[in-house]
Amino acid sequence: MKEVRVGLIGTGGMGKAHATAFKNVPLVFGNEPARPVLEIVADLDEEALKVWASDFGFARYTTDWREIIHDPNVDIVDITTPNHLHAEMAIAAAEAGKHIYCEKPLALTSADAAKIVEAVEKAGVISIVGFNYFKNPAQAFARQLIEEGELGEITLFRGTFDQDFLADPNVPFSWRLDRQLAGTGTLGDLGSHTLGLAHFLVGEITEVCGMMSTVVKERAVPVGGSGYAAKAEGDAPMREVENEDITECLVRFANGAVGAIGTSRVGTGRKLGLGYEIQGTKGSLFYTQERMNELKLYRHTDPDREKGYKTVYIGPDHPGYKAFFGLAGIGLGYNDQKIIEAHDLVTAVALNQPAYPDVRFAYGVNKVMDAIDLSVQEKRWVNVSEFNTAVD
Ligand SMILES: NC(=O)c1ccc[n+]([C@@H]2O[C@H](COP(=O)([O-])OP(=O)(O)OC[C@H]3O[C@@H](n4cnc5c(N)ncnc54)[C@H](O)[C@@H]3O)[C@@H](O)[C@H]2O)c1
Repeated sequence: MKEVRVGLIGTGGMGKAHATAFKNVPLVFGNEPARPVLEIVADLDEEALKVWASDFGFARYTTDWREIIHDPNVDIVDITTPNHLHAEMAIAAAEAGKHIYCEKPLALTSADAAKIVEAVEKAGVISIVGFNYFKNPAQAFARQLIEEGELGEITLFRGTFDQDFLADPNVPFSWRLDRQLAGTGTLGDLGSHTLGLAHFLVGEITEVCGMMSTVVKERAVPVGGSGYAAKAEGDAPMREVENEDITECLVRFANGAVGAIGTSRVGTGRKLGLGYEIQGTKGSLFYTQERMNELKLYRHTDPDREKGYKTVYIGPDHPGYKAFFGLAGIGLGYNDQKIIEAHDLVTAVALNQPAYPDVRFAYGVNKVMDAIDLSVQEKRWVNVSEFNTAVD
């Protein structure tokens, strides 16, 4: 049986999701064309790492991520560290000839993302970036409908990603609020997923005009815990929040469609408010991740007395679902998207074929993020091509 060996960097929220996904790939999809093996894992706190590695069944662990890069028993370097580390780790991995699984956003800036694209394409390694939401079979189906012309010409995309995990001003400071470690705030963290979906479903965004707002301007300095797990004590000093809580943006697509993208990390009531409405000349789609097993489809060609959105329940006729269940409507969850993503990468590596979405796709998302950021700073429309580099 062919094996694909994984070296994971980072054991936080996403490290857990990736390790869980790889463990489940053979259980859901079987051992063909290859079986992933959890070979080695890296993080900073050795005591915690030792327990974590054993719980997940990694053969080895290290507190030096570079050991993973140069480990001859590693085929895939899996990067789930905070954003500022992605570029250095991904470039080192590519130069060592390793395939790459990297979390989004690919890099802090499109210039850094371009360097990753260059290194990956020069080395000829396979890459995938964690835009897991379009691994939901509902999105593959949405794309099929659009490609088959079921919606006619796409005229409008309105997308969101709102969550309220930072709505409480008592939630402490963490790396997501540090411009040096995260880049933009909710735009890179949540909005990058919506931009990814917009590109996947409608096509390239060419022009943007954005605005941003920071609602909670300072937060308590934590004493420990990374990311969502940061903990602060009652008398902790305060630290200024360095990036935005809300981004709203008008967008224009290369194919003539227009739209808007909005994202908030202080959006009270929204738990996983990733969604969109896509309108076309012959029909429309409506989706929200909070009901991820349903896609609302409207056909303007229906007889007048039957016109209205209908609910399509995701099932075995939608790409990726059948491996989980043979019947529609039973439903997938967040981690199942990650299992599909990990399986796509393992399959691509085993068969030596491209995976999707790769670092070049993610570079495109980084360019739109940079354009939105510049548009906010300079209070003007920005053409995304202002961020073109040698890899375009
Ligand atoms: N695709 C998604 O749905 C999704 C969801 C959440 C986060 N993310 C992305 O995943 C990445 C990680 O986010 P998270 O929420 O898991 O963060 P986290 O803070 O929970 O985990 C990050 C981990 O990286 C470790 N780390 C930091 N520096 C390291 C180093 N030099 N070497 C080894 N380990 C190191 C930390 O100790 C921590 O365990 C981010 O890029 C984020 O944008 C993606």
